[in-house]
Amino acid sequence: MERLKVAVLISGRGSNLQSLIDACAAPDFPAEIVLVLSNKADAYGLVRAAEAGIATTAISHKAYPDRESFDEALHAEIVAAGAQLVCLAGFMRLLTPGFVGKWHDRMINIHPSLLPAFKGLHSHERAIEAGCRFTGCTVHFVRAEMDDGPIIVQAAVPILPGDSANELSDRVLAAEHRCYPLALRLVAEGKAVVDGAIVRIADAASPQDALLNPLAG
Ligand code: GRF
Repeated sequence: MERLKVAVLISGRGSNLQSLIDACAAPDFPAEIVLVLSNKADAYGLVRAAEAGIATTAISHKAYPDRESFDEALHAEIVAAGAQLVCLAGFMRLLTPGFVGKWHDRMINIHPSLLPAFKGLHSHERAIEAGCRFTGCTVHFVRAEMDDGPIIVQAAVPILPGDSANELSDRVLAAEHRCYPLALRLVAEGKAVVDGAIVRIADAASPQDALLNPLAG
């Protein structure tokens, strides 16, 4: 089986990276990670990658005069590794339109909210403050606007009375770790097809039930 070659870009602890590493360990998984790239040399995700025997590179954005030259360095590393798809997994740098254009429909991201709600930072705090009954996570193709692009997979997670942002973050993170491998599988199998602003999933079963929170009664 020909596996899709993937570069994962991180900045921190790399728990989503770990979920992808674990998924790729299955012999029938249709993707493999060929490079983990961090803009921070002390990102714990680099340790996770090294333990899994995956090539790692750290490129500090501080070593470059502007975003364009940093992104060119990123692009060169990714191409040199032979990657066909880029997965952003807690990569905390905004990417230039030039870089995003080079990876159009070949770069995906995970964000801890039900996009298009709560783009950007502190999504859990904002969902709690807004009194939302649900939040969740989204894996989407990347476009030049931050946290924007055709949605591949989402999971809804209930917000419970008295939740702190940390408690909610833990609950959403567990869903993230299921969504990202699923989205990568769909993309690698060619089952997530971009059609304008949306993604059509081949052979997708539709969920029959609506979730309600709080339950009546
Ligand atoms: C995750 O919540 C992800 O959705 C967001 O950044 C966080 C990264 O966490 N983009 P980790 O480094 O994968 O543990």
